[in-house]
Amino acid sequence: MTFTIAVLKGDGIGPEIVDEAIKVLDRLGEKYDRQFTYKRGYLGGESIDKYGVPLSDETLALCKASDAILLGAVGGPKWNHLDPAIRPERGLLAIRKELELFANLRPAILFDALKESSPLKRDLVKDGLNIMVVRELTGGIYFGKRAYSDEEAYDTMYYSRAEIERIAVEAFKIAQKRNKKLVSVDKHNVLDSSKLWRKTVEEVAKDYPDVRLSHLYVDNAAMQLVINPAQFDVILTENMFGDILSDEASMLTGSIGMLPSASLGGRVGLYEPVHGSAPDIAGTGKANPIATILSAGMMLKYSFGLVEESWAIDKAVDEVLEEGYRTADIYTKGKTLLTTSEMGDKIAERVRG
Ligand code: IPM
Ligand code: MG
Repeated sequence: MTFTIAVLKGDGIGPEIVDEAIKVLDRLGEKYDRQFTYKRGYLGGESIDKYGVPLSDETLALCKASDAILLGAVGGPKWNHLDPAIRPERGLLAIRKELELFANLRPAILFDALKESSPLKRDLVKDGLNIMVVRELTGGIYFGKRAYSDEEAYDTMYYSRAEIERIAVEAFKIAQKRNKKLVSVDKHNVLDSSKLWRKTVEEVAKDYPDVRLSHLYVDNAAMQLVINPAQFDVILTENMFGDILSDEASMLTGSIGMLPSASLGGRVGLYEPVHGSAPDIAGTGKANPIATILSAGMMLKYSFGLVEESWAIDKAVDEVLEEGYRTADIYTKGKTLLTTSEMGDKIAERVRG
């Protein structure tokens, strides 16, 4: 079986971490007899340099013609002087919107071997953490009406019922396959968009009576994640709240360098680490490729239906961590420090079995 993957390496550490994910996919392909064909596109700063825009028609067409998209990260100081309207990040927002990737899945899992890397007190994480953040990705304040002048500016958090409904349905379906606990996060005490959000989520809940639904205000949710993270199974939330809470959730697992994501909804899914392009460590061998490797694992499962292969990646990562191998961000005394590509090699070796 052959799968075509659009590869958008992006900026900063993007190229180096994507290369490691490809290394792992290739080993996996040899073992399970799957062919992955890679087609290179450009996003963010690298696209601005090449085409003058953060997302070109060429790259968009390439993505639409692929079976899935693997993305590194975008942005960096080189492009910070540009107007936000044409900065690298806009390319990412545009591709999400163009491909209708409204459902962003961000699993925050604390690997056993990394319990000592979590900034939380040991007894808070002794039973591990496994939280799925379901973030709405193509609506809300990121895409609402906006205006800027030197005297005033505004952004609008707009949601239609249909937009809320479709992301809620995804979250309930995911909760059904997990521990059947869904927390919807909003700011219902202040925002009208949250009023519609909560009402719609409650209506959708009627079709999923086996899932226990509760609601939290976003400020409380931010606090609960720190004082009692083990209470969470699935968190459903709108775009910007999800951006913030997923960074918070990721750090509970030791390092944001561990967190993968899948963006789904349209025909072609997009897979990328939750972390950014970290230009300060680009080229130093310090970047952790695990988030991108796990994102490739999510691609196998969600876009290609290769569940066993996906699991083989998770297992390989787990084993390598258990054996004490660490990149700089998750290094603790007594462990073996690896560079980005050495970590990719180790995981690729394990995947081959
Ligand atoms: C993320 C990032 C993006 C976002 C930025 C780079 C536009 O922070 O994927 O979480 O805000 O969605
Ligand atoms: Mg973010």
